[in-house]
Amino acid sequence: MKFWHTMLASGLIALNTAAVQASQWQALPEQVPAPADNPQTEVKVELGKMLYFDPRLSKHGTLSCNSCHNVMEGGDDSRPNSVGISDARGGRSAPSVWNAALLSVQFWDGRAASLEDQAVGPVLNPIEMAMPSEAEVIKRLGELPQYVELFQKAFPEEEKPLSMSNLAKAIAAYERTLITPNSAYDQYVKGDEKALTEQQVRGMESFANLGCTACHSGANFSGPQLPVGQGFFMKFPTFPGSEYETKYDLIKDTGRASVTGKDGDKNMWRVPTLRNVALTAPYFHNGQVPSLDEAVRVMAKTQLNKELSEEQVADLVAFLNSLTGEFPEQTMPRLPSNPNTTVLPLSDAELAGDSTLLTH
Ligand code: HEC
Ligand code: HEC
Repeated sequence: MKFWHTMLASGLIALNTAAVQASQWQALPEQVPAPADNPQTEVKVELGKMLYFDPRLSKHGTLSCNSCHNVMEGGDDSRPNSVGISDARGGRSAPSVWNAALLSVQFWDGRAASLEDQAVGPVLNPIEMAMPSEAEVIKRLGELPQYVELFQKAFPEEEKPLSMSNLAKAIAAYERTLITPNSAYDQYVKGDEKALTEQQVRGMESFANLGCTACHSGANFSGPQLPVGQGFFMKFPTFPGSEYETKYDLIKDTGRASVTGKDGDKNMWRVPTLRNVALTAPYFHNGQVPSLDEAVRVMAKTQLNKELSEEQVADLVAFLNSLTGEFPEQTMPRLPSNPNTTVLPLSDAELAGDSTLLTH
């Protein structure tokens, strides 16, 4: 249980100012616990990785999970909102999959409890990968003998190993390997005083003194560690009426209220992680803020009602850059083939079927 030890080993560290001493700076755990009903195995992770990279999980064979969550880079798509099937757009920006395994709820509005719950959605979502039905997904995979074999190996106890819920479990198992430990910040927290520059240390102190840590706390900077399924939600903007609200169209999307229908949840959002945030511009749920320095200004104004000096902004940005971790190397997996023919349909008409569509 190495990960718990890592978490325990990280704790309070002494810094110069009282405010900084009072908050808990924690290093990122190197591993995350898997749920009891989806233990990590090597073969499951291998299968999940193939599925993650396989564009044949989309209607026209054009999009894989990696199209919008590029693990060769920041785990997102660098776009304000993603381009799905046939150029379709949704209103939200793709978050990073790096360290998503550490979040207690998934999505900007927290509508999925776990990675397992999340992973089925995009495949069937009409504006993302747009597969017409579960049956069609299972049929395609079933025509690729190596997938059939890998599902059997990964889920040996089961009568029907090739299923949508096992597809989600395998992808989730792969995502649990996407952890980026050992950032400059983590090295500093573990005692290497030279790991951060002076400016970064100033930024870290500002981050605590200004009150960013009220929301962005914990090892993942996404709030307290809650049981899976319980999100840490905060109002954005907390202080309404700033110029940023209209400039970046911040309140049109009602966030958590779009899931619960409750007035009190209007413009409530899950507090996102700030790990690797330097690599995931543009920012916020609608991806309308182009740069990290502007995102920091927006946060200070809308969440804390503070105007920052340019020096403070630069210090905070330098600190946020120290949260960029080490990325375990990813190699593109070789994908199963169906010799002599294709599993993709020759026309959309062939894809008629049960069109029960889920939302991502
Ligand atoms: C067309 C682009 C697109 C594709 C393809 C796609 N996603 Fe996403 N993904 C998004 C967007 C946009 C969101 C945010 C939606 C929201 O929060 O409402 C998201 C959210 C997520 C999240 C939640 C992360 C967080 O911080 O809350 C995870 C995990 C994820 N996707 C994994 C996957 C997996 C696994 C696949 C493949 C099965 C996939 N995505 C396919 C665009 C895409
Ligand atoms: C009251 C809670 C709260 C406080 C205080 C707060 N934040 Fe945030 N932060 C949030 C929420 C909620 C979001 C997500 C908003 C959205 O996109 O809908 C967010 C998003 C961000 C993002 C963008 C992340 C992304 O992936 O797009 C950055 C960067 C950020 N915060 C930095 C800061 C900094 C720096 C401070 C202090 C100056 C701060 N935050 C203070 C709640 C808070």
